[in-house]
Amino acid sequence: MSLVPRIIAVAVLFLICTPSLDAKPAKAKALPAPTTDDCLACHSDPEATRGDGKPLGRDLGKFAASIHGQGGLACTDCHADLATAELPHGEKLARVDCATCHSDTAEKHAGSVHKAQSCTGCHGVHDILPASDPASRTAHANVPATCESCHKQPPGPAGRGKSIKDGFHVGKVLAEYGESAPVCSTCHGAHDILPPKDKRSPMHHDQVAATCGTCHSDVQETWDKSIHAQMIASGRNAATCSDCHAVHGILGTEEMPRWRVAATQECSTCHASKANTYRDTFHGKASSLGYERVATCSDCHGNHAIRPKADPASMVSAQNRVATCQKCHPGTGENFAAYDPHADPHDRERNPVLFYATMFMKALLGGTFAFFGLHTALWAPRSLKDRRARRAAHAPKQPTSGDDEGGRA
Ligand code: HEC
Ligand code: HEC
Ligand code: HEC
Ligand code: HEC
Ligand code: HEC
Ligand code: HEC
Ligand code: HEC
Ligand code: HEC
Ligand code: HEC
Ligand code: HEC
Ligand code: HEC
Repeated sequence: MSLVPRIIAVAVLFLICTPSLDAKPAKAKALPAPTTDDCLACHSDPEATRGDGKPLGRDLGKFAASIHGQGGLACTDCHADLATAELPHGEKLARVDCATCHSDTAEKHAGSVHKAQSCTGCHGVHDILPASDPASRTAHANVPATCESCHKQPPGPAGRGKSIKDGFHVGKVLAEYGESAPVCSTCHGAHDILPPKDKRSPMHHDQVAATCGTCHSDVQETWDKSIHAQMIASGRNAATCSDCHAVHGILGTEEMPRWRVAATQECSTCHASKANTYRDTFHGKASSLGYERVATCSDCHGNHAIRPKADPASMVSAQNRVATCQKCHPGTGENFAAYDPHADPHDRERNPVLFYATMFMKALLGGTFAFFGLHTALWAPRSLKDRRARRAAHAPKQPTSGDDEGGRA
């Protein structure tokens, strides 16, 4: 359609519609807004359903006790399109916009990862209670269940296959420490939740330590001085709280020994070669068999204050190394501590003795196999021939014990 006919069409439409546009407000002014009782005349039956089988109003029975019912809100304060409508109303009504009264919250929400989710996903519809009410979906203790109504599976490796709310922090600590334990919204926020990948999220890798540090400030201060913290500050990827402690499945002290063994896995994601050499040594072999007593990475390097060996404060520095071994090998000295826990038989420069010893052992092993392999191969035809000859001589007379007798003879 070209422009001129379009303008004419719009003008005609305008003329047709104008009288009805005028008429509507006049009609509405005459009618009083329907009261809550008017609405409940049809909507009070909790069993009643719509044509499509959906309920005629979720939790309307709890509306009077809700914060909005208590606050004196009428149905039409939220269902604003019905404030000026005639009853019975039409089939399709406008969506309720919480932002008309909660504009600050709604603004935050619109910038969050949940922007496509309705407020009602976390708050409910007609039975909304303030977070201070223990029965509220957003009360501290109920937040995990509320979030898990959508986030059933713990995300990523952090969850370790457990339900998020069963994790130590969210489950056990919550039961014991109540309000001073973190729940989903303590760490992630409520209306301003962003994906942890987003730099502005309090759960972004760079921010995690500061967020955990709001409650574990002593640990954070120690960690701040570690090589890992320095690396993160300089923009590299290194270990923060959530790399070592499985975020949603954080374990408590009583489970620490078991976890400490498992935590070597976390170190190995960034220190693969050191983890490989560790696994080849006695400590690594024993710990992979499940012996909790044996040295794991953090027994020798520490956990929150890990430093390079050149740093005198490091647990494996020349100054501290003996003491570190002595924690478990009392009475040992410099000589014992000189044992290389990361000995690499493939690294000639680092471990020349081990390198050549390994070469020698490999040569010996290879030689042995080669010699006896050849021996067996050459001997086989001869041995076969002997066997056939013995069978031919004894088989008819002594079928059962002939071979044995012949063998011993
Ligand atoms: C005469 C009975 C009657 C009265 C009075 C009534 N409703 Fe309804 N309402 C219904 C029926 C029937 C439906 C289901 C329509 C359908 O089948 O989808 C409905 C549906 C609704 C819906 C869902 C609409 C949608 O888009 O899915 C809302 C919201 C609603 N009513 C709110 C109200 C409010 C608010 C009032 C008071 C201002 C009210 N109703 C008064 C009968 C009534
Ligand atoms: C605090 C705001 C608020 C108040 C007050 C309120 N509602 Fe609703 N109502 C909603 C929201 C939100 C929905 C979900 C659909 C939507 O987003 O529009 C809804 C949906 C409904 C529905 C559709 C069925 C359903 O559960 O989705 C009915 C029927 C309804 N309301 C009736 C009422 C009646 C009757 C009253 C008064 C007793 C009332 N509402 C008061 C916010 C409100
Ligand atoms: C992801 C879940 C979630 C969504 C979605 C959500 N809220 Fe909340 N809301 C909460 C939690 C949890 C609290 C409890 C207090 C807190 O931790 O901030 C809360 C508290 C509130 C409060 C009282 C405290 C305050 O901040 O003023 C209001 C009002 C509120 N929400 C309104 C809304 C509105 C309006 C929307 C939609 C625009 C919405 N909420 C969407 C989880 C949510
Ligand atoms: C017509 C205005 C209006 C609308 C629309 C409205 N609310 Fe409210 N809301 C209020 C009032 C008023 C209070 C009571 C405030 C108070 O007592 O501090 C309240 C309180 C709340 C609270 C508890 C706040 C607290 O102090 O903990 C939550 C949560 C809440 N509303 C969520 C919602 C959600 C979700 C929607 C949309 C489904 C919504 N509201 C729609 C007016 C409204
Ligand atoms: C102690 C703080 C803390 C608590 C409590 C917590 N989380 Fe997390 N959550 C995190 C951290 C840190 C990450 C980022 C993990 C990562 O980078 O691997 C995360 C990531 C997530 C992700 C995104 C995962 C992904 O794959 O990117 C979701 C979804 C999530 N959490 C939901 C929840 C829910 C739901 C709860 C409550 C039941 C909860 N969280 C409780 C700290 C927490
Ligand atoms: C109504 C369902 C629903 C509820 C309730 C809900 N979420 Fe979500 N959440 C989603 C959906 C859907 C996404 C994915 C949005 C997207 O990627 O666009 C999401 C995304 C997230 C993410 C980012 C995930 C990522 O991969 O980076 C986090 C973190 C998160 N939610 C935390 C929470 C927390 C904490 C709560 C409770 C306070 C909560 N959610 C409640 C549906 C929900
Ligand atoms: C490099 C790995 C690693 C990093 C990074 C790390 N931890 Fe730990 N954390 C451990 C290990 C290992 C233990 C167990 C110590 C033990 O066995 O007693 C531990 C123990 C803890 C404990 C209980 C015992 C104590 O020392 O108080 C808390 C609380 C804790 N970590 C919090 C944190 C917080 C908060 C952060 C981030 C600021 C963090 N951790 C970073 C490895 C780490
Ligand atoms: C809202 C406060 C709070 C936040 C935030 C928090 N924690 Fe905790 N955490 C606690 C409480 C309370 C305990 C149980 C008491 C204790 O052992 O200190 C606990 C216990 C722990 C333990 C077990 C310690 C032990 O001795 O059994 C570890 C490990 C831990 N938290 C790590 C973290 C990490 C990692 C983060 C960040 C992802 C974090 N916490 C965030 C409050 C918090
Ligand atoms: C997210 C990656 C990451 C994880 C997980 C991690 N580290 Fe590191 N670590 C680094 C980075 C990066 C450096 C800086 C030195 C480098 O370039 O290798 C470093 C440095 C070190 C150093 C000093 C070595 C040097 O060359 O300066 C030690 C020791 C160390 N880490 C031990 C551990 C232990 C033990 C664990 C597990 C409890 C662990 N790391 C977990 C990334 C990580
Ligand atoms: C029995 C104690 C012990 C265990 C267990 C151990 N290490 Fe070490 N680690 C050391 C010592 C001692 C050194 C210094 C070796 C040297 O002189 O080069 C070292 C060196 C390192 C270095 C290089 C440090 C630097 O400053 O150059 C890294 C990285 C490292 N270890 C990571 C790990 C990881 C990851 C694990 C677990 C998979 C682990 N270590 C297990 C004792 C141990
Ligand atoms: C957390 C405790 C722990 C720490 C720390 C530790 N070890 Fe061990 N280590 C063990 C255990 C347990 C065994 C098993 C043999 C035993 O019972 O003595 C073992 C075995 C060994 C063995 C082989 C068996 C033997 O006794 O000859 C060597 C070598 C060894 N450790 C060296 C070291 C060196 C070097 C250090 C310091 C850099 C160190 N260990 C630190 C617990 C530890």
